[in-house]
Amino acid sequence: MAYSYQLETDEAYRKAYQKSIETPELFWADIAENFRWRKKWDEVLRWNFKEPKVEWFRGAKLNITENCLDRWVETQPDIPAIVWEPNDPDEASRILTYKELYEKVCQFAHVLKNNGAKRGDRICIYMPMVPELAIAVLACARIGAIHSVVFGGFSAQSIADRIQDAQCNIVVTADGAYRGNKSIPLKSIIDDALCNCPSVKKVIVLTRTSIPVSMMKERDCWWEDEIKKVEEKGLKNFEPEIMEAEDMLFILYTSGSTGKPKGVVHTCAGYMVWTNYTFVNVFQYQPGDVHFCTADIGWVTGHSYIVYGPLSAGATSLMFEGIPTWPDAGRFWEIVEKHKVNILYTAPTAIRSLMGFGLDSIKGKNLDSLKVLGTVGEPINEEAWHWYDENIGKRKCPIVDTWWQTETGGTLISNLAGVTKAKPSFATLPLPGVQPVLVDEKGNVIEGNGVSGNLCMRFPWPGMLRTTYGDHERCRTTYFSTYENLYFTGDGCLRDEEGNYRITGRVDDVLNVSGHRIGTAELENAINMHTGVVESAIVGYPHDIKGQGIYAFVIFNGIHTDENHTRQDINQTVTKIIGAIAKPDKIQFVSGLPKTRSGKIMRRILRKIAEGELQNLGDTTTLLDPMIVEEIIANRL
Ligand code: PRX
Repeated sequence: MAYSYQLETDEAYRKAYQKSIETPELFWADIAENFRWRKKWDEVLRWNFKEPKVEWFRGAKLNITENCLDRWVETQPDIPAIVWEPNDPDEASRILTYKELYEKVCQFAHVLKNNGAKRGDRICIYMPMVPELAIAVLACARIGAIHSVVFGGFSAQSIADRIQDAQCNIVVTADGAYRGNKSIPLKSIIDDALCNCPSVKKVIVLTRTSIPVSMMKERDCWWEDEIKKVEEKGLKNFEPEIMEAEDMLFILYTSGSTGKPKGVVHTCAGYMVWTNYTFVNVFQYQPGDVHFCTADIGWVTGHSYIVYGPLSAGATSLMFEGIPTWPDAGRFWEIVEKHKVNILYTAPTAIRSLMGFGLDSIKGKNLDSLKVLGTVGEPINEEAWHWYDENIGKRKCPIVDTWWQTETGGTLISNLAGVTKAKPSFATLPLPGVQPVLVDEKGNVIEGNGVSGNLCMRFPWPGMLRTTYGDHERCRTTYFSTYENLYFTGDGCLRDEEGNYRITGRVDDVLNVSGHRIGTAELENAINMHTGVVESAIVGYPHDIKGQGIYAFVIFNGIHTDENHTRQDINQTVTKIIGAIAKPDKIQFVSGLPKTRSGKIMRRILRKIAEGELQNLGDTTTLLDPMIVEEIIANRL
C-alpha cells in the first residue's frame, strides 16, 4: 500500500467512514500521524458552529512546506514534483524535481524576506500558470506569510478590491501571460490596480512574455534580479517559519449572493491533512503517477489539487499554462500522450466544449496511460459523462465526480476511483469525516433516501473555512445562520435510494458559469456602473457548454446609437470592473423589471423567461406592473 491511509476497497471505505463518525478525534489523529510536525497537537478538535469557531490539531506546530518539500527531498529528491507544459506546444516543457522545487522555493523565500515580507503579511499573487506561481505560493507558506492568489483573468478593479480588503503589502506578478493566442499584460493591470492600494510597498515581477512594462523606482523589482542576489550568496535553504496549526495559510476570494467577493480563509494544519487525504483517496494516487489537474492555481481547485494535495503526497503534478482549445481541441490529449498522464482532472465545461469538436482531435493520440478521470466545479450531465468515459477513458478508467467548494478546502462528496461505485451525474458518497444532511426550507432535517433538499454539513471536517477575512460576522451569516448548527453549502441536492448524493446546483443567487462562481449582485452592481444603465437583473439559464449562461435584463436610459454597440459597452464595463469571465451572454433591454409592490425584483419570473419556460410563470398578480412581463416575453432573446 502506497499510503497507509489509502482506502483500497469498498469495505475499507465503509469502515473508515464509520470510524470517522463514531470517533472523529481518534480517526483524524491517526491520519495526522502521517505528516511532519514540529510539535504534535494537544487536542484534535474543538468546535462550535454558533460563532463559528473550528480548531483542528490545536497546539500543533508545523510548516506545510516541510510536508510538501523537505520530507520528499530526503526520500525522493529526483522524482518530478512539477511537470510544466507551456501554452505554446513549440516551447519546451519544464520538469522540476522535488530537490529543484525545494531550492527554488527557498530562494524565493529569501527574495520575499529581502523585500520586507514577514510572517503574517498578506501577499497578493497575480501570475500566469508557470512553475514560478507554485514557487511563489510555497515561498509565502515557507515564511509564514498568507497568500492571496488572484486569477489572471480578473480586472484591475477586482485586484484592487482584494488587495485593499486583505491589506497586502507585496504583490508578485509577471510582465504578461500567454493564454491561447492572446497575451495579457499582467503588470500593466497591476499598475492600474495599485493606484488605489497604498498598502503595497513592493512588486516583484517575473519575466514571461517580455513585453515592455513600466517599473516604478523603489516599488518594483524583477524576479530574476532578486534571485540572482540570493544565488550570489549561495543560499539554497531557508529555515521554515514554524506555524501554529490554526495560523492562516491563505485567503482566496470567492463570490457569494450578496456584496463583494469574500476572502475565504484556510489554516495550515487542517487544510494540509484534508487536501492530502482527499487527494490520495479520491484519485487513488500511486507513486510514480502523473496527476494532471487542468485548473488554474487562481482557483481553489489549483490550490488543493495542483499544489498542496499532490505535493504533500510526494506526487508528480502537471501544470498547464494554456487552454484546452488552442492551437486546437487536441491540446489536452497531446499533453496526456506526451507526459504519460495517469490521472486527468478537469471541468465538465471543458469536456462539453471538447465534445463539440468531435472525435477527430482524439484520433491518433495515445491515451493508454490514463487510469483515472475526474470532474469538478459543476454538475456533469450524463451525455458528457458517457462521452468522457467512452472516448477518453475507453471505459477502463473510473470517473470521480468530486463535489466541493472554495469554502470546503477539498472534496467532500465523491466516489473513490475504482474503489467505490460511480454513478453518472452523481457525486455519490461522502468522504470519511463528512456528515451531509438535507434540510427543507424551514430547516427541518429530511431523513431517509429518495429525497431532496438543501445540502448542509452537521460536523466539521479538517479542511473547512475558518472565517472570511476581516469579517467573521459575514462568515457566520453566510454559512452558519441559515440553519441552526449546520454549515449551509448553498447547493440543492438529492439523495437516491442507495444514499448517493447528486448535486443539482445553487439554490442562492450565485451562478456557476463554466465552473466559475459569479455573484448576481456583484455583476448587477458592475453593470449599473455604466452611465446609461438605470437598473439591471441577472439570472442564469441552461447553456450547452458553460452549464449556465448569464442573462442580463437591463433598463437603459442612455442613447442607443445601436443596441449591439450598447451591449458591447456594457460588456466593456463588466470586463473593467470584474473581468471578462463575468460578461453576460445575453443582454435584453427592458423598460421595467417585474417587481413586487414592495419593490423586490421577482427573479423567479425572470429565470423562467430566460430559460424559455413561458407557460408556467406562476402568480404575477402581485406584481406592481404585470404588463411588464408581457413586454419582456415579447422581446426575449
Ligand atoms: O454548486 C457547486 C458547484 O460549484 C460550487 C463551488 O464553486 P467554487 O467554490 O468555485 O469551487 C469549485 C471547485 C471546487 C458548489 O457550490 N460544484 C462543484 N463541484 C461540483 C459542483 N456541482 C456539482 N457537482 C460537482 N462535482
